[in-house]
Amino acid sequence: MKNKRIVSGMRPTGKLHLGHFHGVLSNWLELQEEFECFFFAADWHSLTTEYADTSGIRESTREMLLDWLAFGIDPEKSTIFCQSLVPQHAELNLILSMITPVSWLERNPTYKEMQENLQTKDLSTFGFLGYPVLMASDIIVYKAGRVPVGHDQLPHLEITREIARRFNHLYGEVFPEPEALLTETPKVLGLDGRKMSKSYGNAIFLSETADETRKKVMSMVTDVKRPRRTDPGEPDRCVAYSLNSIYLSEEKRTEIVAACRTAQIGCVECKRAQAEALVEFLAPFRAKREELAAHPDRVEAIMDVGSRKAQEEAGKTMREVREAIRF
Ligand code: TRP
Ligand code: SF4
Repeated sequence: MKNKRIVSGMRPTGKLHLGHFHGVLSNWLELQEEFECFFFAADWHSLTTEYADTSGIRESTREMLLDWLAFGIDPEKSTIFCQSLVPQHAELNLILSMITPVSWLERNPTYKEMQENLQTKDLSTFGFLGYPVLMASDIIVYKAGRVPVGHDQLPHLEITREIARRFNHLYGEVFPEPEALLTETPKVLGLDGRKMSKSYGNAIFLSETADETRKKVMSMVTDVKRPRRTDPGEPDRCVAYSLNSIYLSEEKRTEIVAACRTAQIGCVECKRAQAEALVEFLAPFRAKREELAAHPDRVEAIMDVGSRKAQEEAGKTMREVREAIRF
């Protein structure tokens, strides 16, 4: 029998940008049509790095959920919830932490990498080291079969599988080993040509106003080897063009490529057209988001219902876990 259950979480970092849409959300939208999906805001995971200042987490969670819902993550199809409202994740985390060798966590490549990258924060905590155990709990507490993740999360998923295997070996078969559903998406470039990221300040947010979106697109770098309007350009070298694959039809893209390579179109004109296409693409989403934002009670109700459903499913697994460990 095929295990059709999917679990995925996102750390709340606030408003989502085009990189999130292209990399994660569009993928979730497809998955929810075919699988039983559990999507959650991983707010406890935020605590691993934000413990010294937690003031932004609640607001970031709210903003992220608005983006999900507005873009079509659908509470009728998927279970949408907040991790910290489902205490079973924490209970399983505790039990799994007892059977997880510290060496597995210390050799996790993202552990050292993040400690080095975030030098301003003291990440020498127990909780930060144990991040993959919590992530394993998030996944196997639902007995998920598949987990959509990006490349950066593959080591975590491997640890999840090892932990599940170890549990089964020690206490009997309870957990399936979840498989990674690798989301192969080209990386989305930001305004300056680096990877789009909130922390680089180069992102176009999904909830941006039309004017702000236009301004940002117009500021994007184009083919630097095309100094004059009459020089032929190359879209593959153009940062502005790289966004097109997200929201422009194949046909339109072919048109732009041809016009650019033959110098039939100038960059200003080209970007203006691209900006309009992006504004048009985002408009229905923005309208839906604004409507949702005006009804916080509705968003809260969705969260409550989703979290209760998650508790129920996670609760079933935890009864089996307690039985397996003979408590
Ligand atoms: N670690 C993931 C990230 O930083 C977020 C996450 C937490 C997650 N728990 C998860 C993803 C469970 C998939 C499944 O992006
Ligand atoms: Fe980029 Fe368009 Fe200029 Fe070509 S014409 S370099 S695709 S902005």
